Amino acid sequence: MDPTRYFEDHWREIDSERLDRYELMFTWRPEHDVLIAPACIEAGQTVLDFGSGPGYLAMELGGRVGAGGHVHGVDLNADFVARSRRRAEEAGLADRLSFHHVTGKELPLEDGSIDRVICKNVLEYVPDLDATLRELRRVQPEGALLHAIDSDWSFVVVEPWSPEVVGEFFGAAAHAFREPNIGRKLRAALLCAGYRDIQVAVQPVIDTTGLTRILLQNMAAYIREFETLPAERIDALLGEAGEAVERGEYLFVLPQFLVTGRA
Ligand SMILES: C[S@@+](CC[C@H](N)C(=O)[O-])C[C@H]1O[C@@H](n2cnc3c(N)ncnc32)[C@H](O)[C@@H]1O
Repeated sequence: MDPTRYFEDHWREIDSERLDRYELMFTWRPEHDVLIAPACIEAGQTVLDFGSGPGYLAMELGGRVGAGGHVHGVDLNADFVARSRRRAEEAGLADRLSFHHVTGKELPLEDGSIDRVICKNVLEYVPDLDATLRELRRVQPEGALLHAIDSDWSFVVVEPWSPEVVGEFFGAAAHAFREPNIGRKLRAALLCAGYRDIQVAVQPVIDTTGLTRILLQNMAAYIREFETLPAERIDALLGEAGEAVERGEYLFVLPQFLVTGRA
């Protein structure tokens, strides 16, 4: 793959090992509730889940908007879209959930048709953040909310790694993101796209069980793609993290920036 397009291309084509990992990583969990609370989702709303992945969040939103509401999921990956449609059918929610495969920044949605936009861990990958936000603004009427949830990869803690090692590891995976420090950029970007009343909150993801080693393994796959660290170095670091889990000393902290604006 072309390293300069990898941040987007690695979502267009996902090998089966990564797909399985993503199914686990993106499963909806009750503790995610706090991440989407500022979007104020209510029954009867029409919601866009931008970058809907395997569809777990969209399914949760489908339950919240009820039979009188509708959820549109859009994603760059055709396999995710197919899986999401299947999931909605199986859950008997196909009448209130539509999934669209998109290949560029244009959304297959009418002007002013969306009450709520949620972008969860997606905007760090888009090739042109301003253009994407303007397109999202187009589909919302005055007063509607956009809620973005995103990481900022310079704020990670992985114990037992030193801050320098954390920087080395996540820096070596930076090609997987268009903007690895998206969290801090979102407020200004929303303002620029015409959103107002911007609210910013930070909610940490904290793990002491070792569950988030799957995220480290995913980063390691990005690093291996272009060998931005030697294979032995990656294995040694993942080994250290594993040993810390065994000793009960592992700690992973990743702040999520929650940025909400009014159209
Ligand atoms: C980290 S995943 C997050 C999935 C989901 N929002 C969640 O939190 O469970 C990022 C998702 O954004 C999608 N994506 C990346 N770039 C995109 C783009 N330009 N347009 C639409 N979807 C995109 C990917 O295919 C992937 O499903």
